[in-house]
Amino acid sequence: MDLDKAILGRRSVREYKDQPLDAGLISTLLLAAVQAPSAVNEQPWTFTVVRDQSLLNRISQGAKAHLLATMSEAPHEDHFRALLDNPDFQIFYHAPALILISAAAQGPWIVEDCALAAENLMLAAYAAGLGSCWIGFAQGFLNTPEGKEMLGLPEPWAPVAPIILGHPKAAPAPIPRKPPEIRWVG
Ligand SMILES: Cc1cc2nc3c(=O)[nH]c(=O)nc-3n(C[C@H](O)[C@H](O)[C@H](O)COP(=O)(O)O)c2cc1C
Repeated sequence: MDLDKAILGRRSVREYKDQPLDAGLISTLLLAAVQAPSAVNEQPWTFTVVRDQSLLNRISQGAKAHLLATMSEAPHEDHFRALLDNPDFQIFYHAPALILISAAAQGPWIVEDCALAAENLMLAAYAAGLGSCWIGFAQGFLNTPEGKEMLGLPEPWAPVAPIILGHPKAAPAPIPRKPPEIRWVG
């Protein structure tokens, strides 16, 4: 697929078909993820693939409880609180797979490195006809000892990007973008 088409066409997908994802296809997408640039070529990323729906349900429940316990009481959070309080809301939208990108190394740029790998993964998924969405709701919980234990992650690893993948039920509508704020200096 043309790069412009992928960049312009990718959307966060929140409705998936009940169709499993092939391990070979996931491995191919991860080859695209690791082509991302990384500071000092550290390539600190690791990829934890979860397709077990009961495990994803348990992580969703843990993440929701963690968020409700740690979020502020501010009124602008009311919408999120109501969503997280809803027992029918699963933070992974019942997607057939979660790819958690975590940094296995320490360093000042590990978050940027993993985020770049995540964008490559999401663009490659779109080019392959799949949907994806970064699930920030999962991040805090997956960084707790309880969250890491659920996935068997080594304690020093830093989970950065939980990305769900699957076959989209429909193409989401485009989300308008603000024009780039540009200051031409000099
Ligand atoms: C760091 C990050 C965290 C996000 N967390 C969530 C999330 O927890 N749940 C969700 O449905 N979407 C989440 N998103 C998706 C954004 O809502 C989405 O990218 C944004 O609305 C723009 O839409 P688009 O991706 O379709 O262009 C997240 C995106 C990013 C980059």
